[in-house]
Amino acid sequence: MPKKTFYITTPIYYPSGKPHIGTVYTNIVTDSIARWHKLLGEDVFFSTGTDEHAQKVEKEAKEKGLDTKAYVDTIIPHFKDAFKKYNISYDKFVRTTDEDHKKYCQKLVKKLYDQGDIYKGKYEGWYCNGCETYYTEKDLVDGKCPLHGTKATWFEEEAYFFKMSKYEKKVIDYIKKNNYITPKYRQEFILSRMKDGVRDLCISRTNSEWGISLPWDHKHKIWVWFDALPNYTSNTASSPWKKFWPANVHVIAHDIIWHHSVIWLSMLLAAGIELPKKLLVHGFIMGEGGLKMSKSLGNVIDPLELLKKYPVDSVRYFLLREIPLGSDGAFSYHALRERHNSELVNGLGNLHARTLSMVEKYYSGKIVKSPKNELPKKFNYAKFEESMSNFELHNALSEIMHFVNECNKYINDNVPWELAKNNKKRLDIVMYNLADSLRLISILIEPFMPETSENIQKSLGMKKKEDYKKAKFGLLGNNKLEKVGYLFTRIDEGETMQKKETKVETKPVIPFTDFEKLDLRVAKIIKVENHPNADKLYVLQLSLGSEKKQIVAGLRSHYKPEQLLNKKIIIINNLQPTVLRGVESNGMLLAASKDQKVVFLTPESDIPEGAKIS
Ligand code: MSP
Repeated sequence: MPKKTFYITTPIYYPSGKPHIGTVYTNIVTDSIARWHKLLGEDVFFSTGTDEHAQKVEKEAKEKGLDTKAYVDTIIPHFKDAFKKYNISYDKFVRTTDEDHKKYCQKLVKKLYDQGDIYKGKYEGWYCNGCETYYTEKDLVDGKCPLHGTKATWFEEEAYFFKMSKYEKKVIDYIKKNNYITPKYRQEFILSRMKDGVRDLCISRTNSEWGISLPWDHKHKIWVWFDALPNYTSNTASSPWKKFWPANVHVIAHDIIWHHSVIWLSMLLAAGIELPKKLLVHGFIMGEGGLKMSKSLGNVIDPLELLKKYPVDSVRYFLLREIPLGSDGAFSYHALRERHNSELVNGLGNLHARTLSMVEKYYSGKIVKSPKNELPKKFNYAKFEESMSNFELHNALSEIMHFVNECNKYINDNVPWELAKNNKKRLDIVMYNLADSLRLISILIEPFMPETSENIQKSLGMKKKEDYKKAKFGLLGNNKLEKVGYLFTRIDEGETMQKKETKVETKPVIPFTDFEKLDLRVAKIIKVENHPNADKLYVLQLSLGSEKKQIVAGLRSHYKPEQLLNKKIIIINNLQPTVLRGVESNGMLLAASKDQKVVFLTPESDIPEGAKIS
């Protein structure tokens, strides 16, 4: 019987710079799910890649004085390198500049055109280069993109439109009937946005040479999203990959749900192609303090820099265990170090080291089989499998770690070094249960920590990778152990702090005239509300005497609203306004932070709101 197929995708990324931790996060999540299905014995196809016909890519190449394709060619190796270093087991890396992809798109749009689903009109509206998306006046916040906070550009030109409105009802039905979007609240959000109506979609541009031409009107280039979304089906357009469509899961973050639900499903319905089964939406990785990562805030995490200090599996484990899939999560070095030291070094690493050293000592490194299952039955298979099928990877990992703790407790309770002196029969049972549990753990962690899984299996003398069917008691043979050393070693707080401090010292000094540019003021918090789209942020209304203003602050995990209300704080009053997750912020409050603690600054004694700080 042919194996069950499983097709999983990541978004294809704009190659407008090197990959960052967010890109890598999506790929780690996707990789873990793909590996899990391989472990189940399914025939898995995992695709990722780059979305190259974006205007911002063309702009960057121009700024560098390079031909756009030549520029993109220099960026792709960075993506491939990062994915390799993070052990992302993709099967296909698609580039939208690939000839077969281009041909596929042209055939698709031509089909829609021939059947009357694409028509010529005039586009008048706004465009954000950040997300390469069209906006109406109503969508913008103070003339700026609701997602990027940057000014949208107006343009009007002759363009082709896709009759997306025609598919509105079918899309709604499909989403509802199949629970297409996970988590559910994201689905509710899209469905409620669809209640405002779905308009036809502008799908071509004439102001650029970069892109795929419409086959019947070459001066028009296909709008980048209309060329990017079909990567998922162009990947499987020919044998032997045909069997993988429809995709089982498209993994994305919440910034591009509309594109992957309304636009993509309408396109497929129009083309008469079967629809994908699930859209899995994860959250955003924010910088420390819960703010969006950005170059200007200096809080961008470089995924490759991280690997200079932390093992790849520690980073993978941390991201998957720390952030409940679906929620936004702030990246914190402190939390990463904590999980590494307490759960990987003291938990899993310790279990491995203790078990192996005892097998070495009491059995000269040879496993001795024993029939009594005492430990592995303590693993909650049902809960683990349920978490995996609900994409709750953090809960699945928590089940494994709970079992690791049980194993460590089993050592402490059974005191094998005492058994070695007076109860050899019992020692055989305990040691086999420990060694076989390590084998079980090595299978269970493979989707999340593939390198560690391999190390454990090697250390247990296992000759080949085992799948989930083997994750049951008693299958470890009388193997001879192999030395692999410690799985993880402790990373000292001092070590990373020291590195951080050195960095601070290298910051350049600034002239007083630069400092003078800052308009620092005392402000009083007169209203505190939760940010509607970000669970780490508050929207604060401030009074500066006669002036009132709104700022967005990442204080939600540190203060309750009542601890902030009526407090006097210090703000930077003349910071360029920005939009944080759709809400305008007109300044920034000053706070001090160390590790995970954050406190806001306040005047030492009472002083009127609006007072200037100098
Ligand atoms: N090119 C489009 C996608 C086309 S798919 C047919 C695009 N590219 S992107 O480079 O902007 O990537 C967006 C995706 O990158 C997000 O949906 C998410 O998967 C990932 N992330 C980007 N920043 C992220 C974080 N800070 N945190 C988590 N994921 C992030 O949109």
